[in-house]
Amino acid sequence: MIETRLRPSRRALLAGVALGLLASAVPALAAKKKKAAERRAEPAAAGRTLPIPRLVDLEDGATFELVAEPATHAFVEGKPVDVVGYGGTYMGPVLRLRRGTEPTVRLVNRLDRPTNLHWHGLLVPGRFDGGTQPGIAPGATWEARLTVDQPAATLWYHAHVHGRTAQDVHDGLAGMMIVEDDTSARSRLPATWGVDDLPLILQDRDLDASGRPIYVKTAAIVEHGFHGRQMVVNGVVDPIAKVPQRLVRLRLLNASGSRNFRLFFEDQRPFRQIATDAGFLDAPVELTLLVLAPGERAEILIDFTEGAVPLMTGPDEHEHRTGAQIALLPDVIDRPVRLVAFEATPGKEENTTLPDRLADLPPLPRSTGDIKRRRFELRMQADPASVAMAMVAGHDHAAMSHGSMSHGAIGGDGMAAGDGTPTARLTINGKSFEMGRIDEKVTLGATEIWEIVCPDMAHPFHLHGAHFRVLSEDGEAPKLWNRGWKDTILVDNSAELLVTFTRTAGIDAPFVYHCHVLEHEDGGMMGTFTVA
Ligand code: C2O
Ligand code: CU
Ligand code: CU
Repeated sequence: MIETRLRPSRRALLAGVALGLLASAVPALAAKKKKAAERRAEPAAAGRTLPIPRLVDLEDGATFELVAEPATHAFVEGKPVDVVGYGGTYMGPVLRLRRGTEPTVRLVNRLDRPTNLHWHGLLVPGRFDGGTQPGIAPGATWEARLTVDQPAATLWYHAHVHGRTAQDVHDGLAGMMIVEDDTSARSRLPATWGVDDLPLILQDRDLDASGRPIYVKTAAIVEHGFHGRQMVVNGVVDPIAKVPQRLVRLRLLNASGSRNFRLFFEDQRPFRQIATDAGFLDAPVELTLLVLAPGERAEILIDFTEGAVPLMTGPDEHEHRTGAQIALLPDVIDRPVRLVAFEATPGKEENTTLPDRLADLPPLPRSTGDIKRRRFELRMQADPASVAMAMVAGHDHAAMSHGSMSHGAIGGDGMAAGDGTPTARLTINGKSFEMGRIDEKVTLGATEIWEIVCPDMAHPFHLHGAHFRVLSEDGEAPKLWNRGWKDTILVDNSAELLVTFTRTAGIDAPFVYHCHVLEHEDGGMMGTFTVA
């Protein structure tokens, strides 16, 4: 069944690869593409070295200060622009935590607006989770004690102020986090930071001619999410990474607002996935394509012994549900794009290996009949008030197409009034997010099945304070890349998640679940839950 589901996208992918090759070789075709190309600042040829964010070890009992502040950064070489980040850079350092330790992170706000900080994938109590904490004021600080007790994994941190998460993450308020444990220490996986263990933080940006990322929150962006024309890795366009000619580990993080990355190597060589969002798989899984939705992470091993090829991303099939949606999106998604080029040189030998076994995953239950279930339906629903406004604005066809907001009706400029007012409400179980309202109450220690239903379009569902295993996707076995510990999953129709709740969250600082398309989250596709 999985093969059947993959086939159309794979065909599209290969067609795209062929087209991309032709476009660069045949002048006539290249001319056709020229108009589209003129609209974006063409990235320079690969050659700029991939920046590797600084790795900071958080020591047991120590306090580390993370300062949110303005910075200067060049997405395009030689074109510095104003950004924000942690510690004077675009984004922040990679924080490495060890299982069994209890470091404290002090967030210092040197921005001119409130901010907060959420540890995406880290299991901490609600009061340290940063998801619903109101922003701390400019000049103020906030301390989170991070009790690290979970398997080794690649996580991340980002600002989470309701209504402006998309803008803040776009501007740079995000960074990677790593948890190490005995399993990762014992493994002979590549682990030399920046050499054969590389963080790849994937984003898309709309860079203008001066190299400045443009983000204007139009109604179309609120509803379809932001899609930039340029791909950015660790903050730069079209980088090249120098790697040793051996097995290399890539820690992939999709830190974009809305884009699904469809990752593959240019020559379609197989690679091995070793970890999902929240931990190692039981054994490496061979893949040629890996889909990473916003918020998701994966660790892969790629063999560069015989030389290196670029990592690419293909067209995002989830954005292709309707013709109208395609029209709204930048042309760049219709062809494969290079994310990172690699240059492999012999380098010194390392005692690394591709293991047969990685970690022990508990078996999934055979029968799930007596497990408590909750159902969450993520919808974009017509909002009568704003549809009326759209009609006044002369978009009467918009109101008609919003009579039923199911599959075919999504898309087109009918989604929004001309003044940027969204005509759809973003809801979970019919409700938009409301600070202070508790939507679900979960018992501490409980294991439940959360059934996620997305009738309109695919949404990356994420929850705080807990990890899950995927029981099924659309009634079938989970996709190959979703068979480990997760905290975020792209739900294209429906999915059943087996969640265990091990951290407390009270009514003053509940956990949240939400769509990780950040514009959807900001727009209200989010709910709260307590664990007690
Ligand atoms: Cu990255 Cu509320 O999440
Ligand atoms: Cu999170
Ligand atoms: Cu969504």
